[in-house]
Amino acid sequence: MADTATPPVIRRADYTAPAFLIDTVALEFDLAPERTTIRNTMRLRRNPDAASNAVRETHLELMGEQLDFVSAAIDGKPHAAVRVHEHGLTVENVPDAFELTLVGTCNPAENTTLSGLYVSSGNFFTQCEAEGFRRITWFLDRPDVMATYTVTLRADKDAYPVLLSNGNLLEQGDLPDGRHFARWEDPFRKPSYLFALVAGKLVALEERVTSGSGKEKLLQVWVEPHDLDKTRHAMDSLIHSIRWDERRFGLELDLDRFMIVAVSDFNMGAMENKGLNIFNTKYVLANPETATDTDFANIEAVVGHEYFHNWTGNRVTCRDWFQLSLKEGLTVFRDQEFSADMAAGAHQQNSKNGGDEAARATKRIEDVRVLRQMQFAEDAGPMAHPVRPESYVEINNFYTMTVYEKGSEVVRMYQTLFGRDGFRRGMDLYFKRHDGHAVTCDDFRMAMADANGRDLAQFERWYSQAGTPRVTVSTAYDAAQRRYRVTLKQGYGESSQAARETQKGPLLIPFAIGLIGADGKDLPLRLEGEAQAPAATTRVLEFTDSEQTFTFVDVAEKPLPSLLRNFSAPVIVEYDYSGDELAFLLAHDSDPFNRWEAGQRLATRELLTLADHAANGKPLQLDDAVVSAFARVLNDATLSPAFRELALMLPSEAYLAEQMDESNPAAVHRARQFLRQRLANALKRDWLAIYDKHQTPGAYQATPEDAGRRGLKNLALAYLAELDDTSDAVRLASAQYASANNMTDRAAALSALLTAAASGTGAGDAQHALDDFYRRFEKEPLVIDKWFALQATQRGTPQRPVIDIVRRLMTHPAFNLKNPNRARSLIFSFCGANPAQFHAEDGSGYAFWAEQVIALDALNPQVAARLARTLELWRRFTPALREQMRRALEKVTAQVKSRDVREIVEKALG
Ligand code: TRP
Ligand code: ZN
Repeated sequence: MADTATPPVIRRADYTAPAFLIDTVALEFDLAPERTTIRNTMRLRRNPDAASNAVRETHLELMGEQLDFVSAAIDGKPHAAVRVHEHGLTVENVPDAFELTLVGTCNPAENTTLSGLYVSSGNFFTQCEAEGFRRITWFLDRPDVMATYTVTLRADKDAYPVLLSNGNLLEQGDLPDGRHFARWEDPFRKPSYLFALVAGKLVALEERVTSGSGKEKLLQVWVEPHDLDKTRHAMDSLIHSIRWDERRFGLELDLDRFMIVAVSDFNMGAMENKGLNIFNTKYVLANPETATDTDFANIEAVVGHEYFHNWTGNRVTCRDWFQLSLKEGLTVFRDQEFSADMAAGAHQQNSKNGGDEAARATKRIEDVRVLRQMQFAEDAGPMAHPVRPESYVEINNFYTMTVYEKGSEVVRMYQTLFGRDGFRRGMDLYFKRHDGHAVTCDDFRMAMADANGRDLAQFERWYSQAGTPRVTVSTAYDAAQRRYRVTLKQGYGESSQAARETQKGPLLIPFAIGLIGADGKDLPLRLEGEAQAPAATTRVLEFTDSEQTFTFVDVAEKPLPSLLRNFSAPVIVEYDYSGDELAFLLAHDSDPFNRWEAGQRLATRELLTLADHAANGKPLQLDDAVVSAFARVLNDATLSPAFRELALMLPSEAYLAEQMDESNPAAVHRARQFLRQRLANALKRDWLAIYDKHQTPGAYQATPEDAGRRGLKNLALAYLAELDDTSDAVRLASAQYASANNMTDRAAALSALLTAAASGTGAGDAQHALDDFYRRFEKEPLVIDKWFALQATQRGTPQRPVIDIVRRLMTHPAFNLKNPNRARSLIFSFCGANPAQFHAEDGSGYAFWAEQVIALDALNPQVAARLARTLELWRRFTPALREQMRRALEKVTAQVKSRDVREIVEKALG
């Protein structure tokens, strides 16, 4: 937590190499909750590659925060010329190469920031990314300083029987006074942000596997003893990740042992510390009774993500934090491909042709939904930044949707351009050149370019320009000449100020396209000047100018274009489809992504018209053709249940509000409700039939097939709860709640009961189920998080606004603001996932938001800053809401101290 002076802006252009390097680090910890002592012995030397002015410096500047200084020595002799200050420590008169020993203390028990060394449930954990290591000891805490670490842990043996750190265990043994020790060595050089230790009462699920080259590896998943029954899925996910990285990228696990540890107090999802990944319990613990299908899938994805970082992040790391997407964009891409392959592979065994591709498409649709809902919104507001940002105040604020999700799309475009094999050649060259080094996004791009013999200079703009590109398409068919001209124009539409400042010129956009004939089949795609059409009926156009025309020849009939197939670039496509054309694409497009996309366009168009009418007090009405288009997909048995679920899921309220000239959450809510109720009532018999047909009797299995069936069945239940007469829904949901053998079905039933209750029926049943749910899962914090979240996101009524329920739950004995998962389950769910209630006209939501940001700011700035971001799009709302949001932002600005929150609210107001 910083002073009141304006915190400095860090700029990418100011990067300089460090004046000193650190080759080895020996850390000794005497662990005690209130006062842990750290002895840090490092070998330093002048950096031969440092700028010439740094060469003459006789001072060594080390970073340090919230540390108490004890002593310093150079080459074993006490060194008095040391100045301790707020941001670190200056060691004066240092030689060119030397051994520096620093002893200091910190207070893990009082550390509520969850950065550095902290205590959770009586155990010790660390979190060092991005700049937490400096809260453990004084250091050159920057990723381009890479050293090898030896770590000695000493602690009371009864209280802390397990002592873990990175790498391999060298020795362990007993010490006097009931204490014991363990010594660990990590053979690989690493930046300080990958350091980790864990100490406490933990148990492990263990497996031994043989790696591709025949070496035996020990795998462990460490948890608190009562959670051991929820580790199997994480272990299976780890084993699948290891196999997948060998097969797809030829990358092997490089340590003898790989550990995952679960902790319930954690700011983010998980952390890739070398050989000792530390995870939020939410992304480790699962069994059928406590975890939903979504939880199972998320665990597989996050376990994969952290494991894949071992190569993309750890073996090759970032030169500086502006390069964050080098490891995060690439690793998200890798985890998305892993999940897609897992879904497809699992599918192969039970289905015929096409199941494979359909399963991959389902994952792609889910990923694109997240990108469009969250990253496009980020790009439209005051926090808009390029994939490789130019400046920041607090780096923790830049672990964003843009760096992660848009960064992944940028990596995916290389694969779209060069194919899987070309992408693999680029990856191989990247490791050949940079293994063991700290590098930049340019280095990655150059490896891709050189391995594929391509000039990718223009592609650099994907890293340096913010905002979401818009591609406007126009088409012309010449029946006499049998020619079809597709003209593409690119630009940024109206971007935020932050984004506009970065925009310089056209991008290289891989634009995948297909042409569809009147029979619904793909037409051949021969471009002007080509001798014959390629076999594939999708082709990737390389769109590089502001405006470009592609002419297809030999086109027998006027086609319907299928644009940006599989979402081949992170852009918005504008094309004037008629309603009938969208319905046709929804029924026929051979590209499953675009089939789904057609339905989304159709729904979005209707919903925005409805919202406009609702905002202007006009009556709401809907064309029957829209209902029948969705009915056809719902009942199309050739489509997988998972796909049908996604097709019938309407765009979110937040996404729709953002598409309006002035966001009006109440109008959007009324519009979306209207459409849901129309689909519910008009298709009641279909929903009931779907509900019956997609039961999954027998033991729970987290397979994509069963999850897909449950997903469609529970979507049917959710629609039934929207009926004018909810008696069927209440009956089915009550029965499902009572008989469920898994959390997916139980939570969905509870949610349907809450929906029905909001429209006036079955309030007693809903309350009964809520109470039962709490009692049944009182000892499972992750399930109690769901209990809070379900209530925070429920539909409100004028008599029963959700803010009243949320405020009451804040005083519930199980609520705890210091636990990020719990704070997210209640506060973030309400402020971020219940727009109609949060944006109540009386400003009650904003007042609550301001109180909670201020309270969290004093405890955990990283989490507070995330909550602060839920108001960043305030300028886009209706005048009445906008004014109240501005006042809430000003109130927060006046009171908060952390640079994390200040950067967010100042940019929002600025
Ligand atoms: N590197 C982590 C990941 O993406 C992200 C992370 C985990 C993190 N904990 C953090 C980032 C704390 C900042 C602060 O896998
Ligand atoms: Zn990551």
